[in-house]
Amino acid sequence: MNERVGRDDLERLLRAAQEGIARAYAPYSGFPVGAAILTVAGEVFTGCNVENAAYPSGLCAEAAALGSMVSAVGKRRLQAALVLIARPARAWPCGGCRQRLQEFMEADGMVYATGLELEPIGVPFAQLLPLAFGGHDLALPAT
Ligand code: THU
Repeated sequence: MNERVGRDDLERLLRAAQEGIARAYAPYSGFPVGAAILTVAGEVFTGCNVENAAYPSGLCAEAAALGSMVSAVGKRRLQAALVLIARPARAWPCGGCRQRLQEFMEADGMVYATGLELEPIGVPFAQLLPLAFGGHDLALPAT
């Protein structure tokens, strides 16, 4: 459901998100999430949600994937992100994670959502966070 991210890359994202969700730490919500991000160079990074007894200190899967990328290889531009939930339903990144993704997403980047036994559905990132605030507003170099 997107011309820019091919079937092979979508499969890679899905497998990475499945690996992520298998490691999710979500004892409080019972809502495990796996995320995967794809750089323009084709690298894939994985994340899962990491909850905390102090609830607001929990981490979303997308934030974990971004942290994994930056800590492993530094900043990269992203062509896509995928969010997988452990239900026969889809969920889109929360507001905070849309802003986190904005930092690294290409202008024409895509976000996919999928769940158990479902086909991923993709939407342009710009549709998830229109009129986004970013480094350009601070007149700093783009990341
Ligand atoms: N969660 C994510 O990992 N990503 C999102 O975009 C939305 C929510 C997690 C946070 C929490 O661990 C659980 O899902 C329920 O909110």
